[in-house]
Amino acid sequence: MTGPEPVTLVTGSAGEIGANLVRELVRRGDRVVTVDLRPGREGSGALAHFAGDITDPALWNAFGARYLPRTTFHLAAVLSTHAERSPTLAHRVNIEGTARLLRLARDAGSAANPARFLFPSSIAVYGFPSRSRKAAAGNVREDEHLDPATLYGQQKLYIERLGAALERERPGLDFRAVRFPGLISCDTVPQGGTSDWAPELLHAAARGEPCAFFVRGDARLPFCAMPDAVRGLLQLAGSDRANLRRTAYNLGGSSFSADEVIARVRRDFPDVRVHRALDEERDRIVASWPGAVDDGAARRDFGWAPAHDRETLFSRYLIPGIRARYRRTRDEPSVAEVR
Ligand code: SER
Repeated sequence: MTGPEPVTLVTGSAGEIGANLVRELVRRGDRVVTVDLRPGREGSGALAHFAGDITDPALWNAFGARYLPRTTFHLAAVLSTHAERSPTLAHRVNIEGTARLLRLARDAGSAANPARFLFPSSIAVYGFPSRSRKAAAGNVREDEHLDPATLYGQQKLYIERLGAALERERPGLDFRAVRFPGLISCDTVPQGGTSDWAPELLHAAARGEPCAFFVRGDARLPFCAMPDAVRGLLQLAGSDRANLRRTAYNLGGSSFSADEVIARVRRDFPDVRVHRALDEERDRIVASWPGAVDDGAARRDFGWAPAHDRETLFSRYLIPGIRARYRRTRDEPSVAEVR
């Protein structure tokens, strides 16, 4: 073959979504190249892995010498709590790093054959000034309440708009975004997010460890099972452009308050020990995010239909999956502290 090889690029491949997404892409036969700060996983099925910082030009020079990103899933990011605490780093990674990747993708595409760029945006793009406004809002649609309270939410919204602007400016880029709710996986625990209270509790319960719970009992967010989230992202990636009427789509999830999550986890792990350790800053972030979103546009335009509802999320996915996971690995380190 002459010239760089067309591939599917996944950044943040070792993270929560990435690990699941790469497995699925490889299973479907994509030629996948991964990038992450962490080393590649043995047996991942990726063609190649680049370990390093997405803001490092040398990494992209080495990548570009061999590969052409025909489709990019750009998952590498500094999550919300971490971004609030490290704003300079968050700007470098979430804005500068992403802008570089957008240009790289656009250069890999043409008017006749644009390169696809899939961006995981977030419910963090929405912002409510008070708990009462949040409670009154109901299911939030894509164009409502776009007044993010966090740097992270502002960065997600900016990249949604930058992607759309670059696409309009010059042909070559096909930019698509999903706004994920809180994601919850039986395999992995996120690091540095604010919706982490639910996955942290579940994983601590399964390990028989106490959990320091950092939000108020009435804090409410929508949550989506990781396999549903990955399926949604792939559905959007694979859909015909002519059917897509928006740049960014809500993916929905079952809406749970913190107390409801604790009660539900307790049904299967009655010995779970929850220590209330309110973190005002993180609780305020949750209070600014919607408790539920309207995902009608994703359902109509690309057939989004999550397999799990609020009961099967636990009974068919999380509880059996997490029991199996900790039977397999008894030596997993404790839930990581937010750095
Ligand atoms: N779940 C993410 C976080 O908590 C939001 O996108 O940071």
